[in-house]
Amino acid sequence: MTEISFKNIKPEQDVFFRDVCAGLSRGQKSLPSKYFYDETGSELFTKICETPEYYPTRTELDIMRDNIQPIVCRLGEECLLIEYGSGNGEKVRLLLEHCDHLAGFIPIDISDDHLKEAVLDLKRDYPELKVHALFADFTRELHLPEIDFPFRKRVVYFPGSTIGNFTDAEALRMLKAMHSFLETGDGLLIGIDLKKDVDILERAYNDNAGLTARFNKQVLVRINDELGGDFEIDQFAHRAKYNKSKHRIEMHLVSLREQTVHVRDREFRFAVGETIHTENSHKYSIADFAALAAEAGFKIDEAWTDEHRLFGVLYFTQKV
Ligand code: TRP
Repeated sequence: MTEISFKNIKPEQDVFFRDVCAGLSRGQKSLPSKYFYDETGSELFTKICETPEYYPTRTELDIMRDNIQPIVCRLGEECLLIEYGSGNGEKVRLLLEHCDHLAGFIPIDISDDHLKEAVLDLKRDYPELKVHALFADFTRELHLPEIDFPFRKRVVYFPGSTIGNFTDAEALRMLKAMHSFLETGDGLLIGIDLKKDVDILERAYNDNAGLTARFNKQVLVRINDELGGDFEIDQFAHRAKYNKSKHRIEMHLVSLREQTVHVRDREFRFAVGETIHTENSHKYSIADFAALAAEAGFKIDEAWTDEHRLFGVLYFTQKV
């Protein structure tokens, strides 16, 4: 019998409004990237992952496939797998396919519809698997569901270089939070995007089909739909460029003219060319990232990469 439970701690609309006002009131306007991921945003993101320019998803899956035995061996038997930012659940399937004795699975995602669908699909294919899904914002304090079955170790699975969407300070805070609920011998399996040729990087975030541009603008669509905003979506352009000194792709929305936008009772002015900073995607060397994780108390155990060293899949253990 499948066990499925859903726990919902979705951020409130008021929090969304407050975050939007705070972000648009800054000197460099910004919006938190987690608001991309409503149902439409999550679907767009799945499509971005299939574009020829966006190499990370494909490369990460290849690395996982090529090294599935040693990876599964790290998880061992009776492992409780906790996935951060599960999305459509595609990546974890590879682990599930090759792990015969998983104790249970806790997928965490901020997009509830997406998560529900992914979990129902999993249920169909893995009827024996115990799943406790958590709708949550893992950048805030996480309350993991109570687990009423035995397990030998916990492994956090954090694919997609999602950690790269946070600053080092934010990433460190999340790694420390993980470290505090893990115990000695538990693990962290994480995907990170590696530093590389700027052209390859910039192409990945400027796909020809314009899906990344639509994804970027989705946050404005959400403000209009959910908070009664009056953004003229066509009056903003997508821009994604590599910032070498900060080793990250920065995504912005550029105001194409001088304009004033309202969100509920608030008013925000834009000069021509002024931008809203919507996302960062940090790129690391394996050593950079291992040093960051070490600060949170993790010890690197293994790093797998592809032949062009585009992407890295790293396994850490919780150091005492
Ligand atoms: N974390 C991935 C990355 O930074 C996925 C991602 C997040 C993404 N936001 C994005 C990809 C926006 C394209 C555009 O690459």
